[in-house]
Amino acid sequence: MKSKILVTGATGTTGQYVIEILLEKGADVRAMVRTVDERSKALEKLGVEVVQADFLDLQGLRKALKNVNRAYFLYPFIDHLPKAAGYFAKAAKEQNLELVVSMSQMNVHDATKSPATQNHLIAEDILDWAEIGAVHIRPALFAWNYLGMASPTVKAENKFYFPNPEAKYTIIHPKDIGEVVAEILTAENIQQHIGKRYDLSGSEIYDGKKVTDVIGKVLNKEIEFVPIPVDVWIDAMKKLPTVNEFLAKHLRELSKDIAMDKFNKVTDVVKNITGHEPRTFEEYLTEYKAVFEN
Ligand SMILES: NC(=O)c1ccc[n+]([C@@H]2O[C@H](COP(=O)([O-])OP(=O)(O)OC[C@H]3O[C@@H](n4cnc5c(N)ncnc54)[C@H](OP(=O)(O)O)[C@@H]3O)[C@@H](O)[C@H]2O)c1
Repeated sequence: MKSKILVTGATGTTGQYVIEILLEKGADVRAMVRTVDERSKALEKLGVEVVQADFLDLQGLRKALKNVNRAYFLYPFIDHLPKAAGYFAKAAKEQNLELVVSMSQMNVHDATKSPATQNHLIAEDILDWAEIGAVHIRPALFAWNYLGMASPTVKAENKFYFPNPEAKYTIIHPKDIGEVVAEILTAENIQQHIGKRYDLSGSEIYDGKKVTDVIGKVLNKEIEFVPIPVDVWIDAMKKLPTVNEFLAKHLRELSKDIAMDKFNKVTDVVKNITGHEPRTFEEYLTEYKAVFEN
């Protein structure tokens, strides 16, 4: 019998791609949304069953996971991930889930001081302990970040401000994350994946100057890279609508992790699981070029 697959975070950056690719594969998809709005209605129009539930409400999770066999667990960049992982694990265990693909981060390490990364470290263990077929994906920096981090100053001044000019890191197209998740969720042989911690990267290593050059190439104009102290960068990030206090604390520690080379690695996971090379940062920016234009 065909698996019923629950996608949480269904209206978010990676969840949308997971659903798009699962539908292309003819999977039986249920989407869990926090908010019923135009985005959830659009999912229904695509033929997706939509359930409204909150990660921190056990009864809602039980409803969302009813008769589900496999799931994508995507918790947003807010606090209380270990609690949500515990609630999710309990509801998933009650339904005997065989596979849960869970979002984590490439920079997960025991000594991290980022509250968000520590939460991922603990959530990975909670999902493993529950024995619900957990597979952990640990992606690099999302290309999506640059829409918020770079576009305001690129538009206003043709400049990109970023700390750690020497730091090297890889950037991933969120569609590659969605495709990896969808491939695992529809795999016939799930035992090959269960228990794995997959580092997902793009195919190139970047630094601030190289990022700036790619933005300039896509926009066909000169963009200047301006290295700034971390404190100045954090103050600027706090002004973005997507950056809450918790995320700001994470970004401060993340910049240290970046400087410690925690994102400085290219892996073959995207190629091995999807069968193609990772999409490039340039491809992503080209798709979202309008965000950088006045
Ligand atoms: N950005 C990066 O560079 C990066 C790198 C590696 C890993 N990550 C990890 O990626 C994750 C974020 O992924 P993403 O960008 O795909 O997420 P996202 O776009 O922020 O989407 C989050 C989704 O979760 C939903 N949601 C929020 N609060 C909820 C709640 N209480 N109950 C149920 N649903 C809720 C949101 O719905 P509403 O829109 O209705 O609120 C939205 O659909 C984080 O765990 C982060 O650590 C990010």
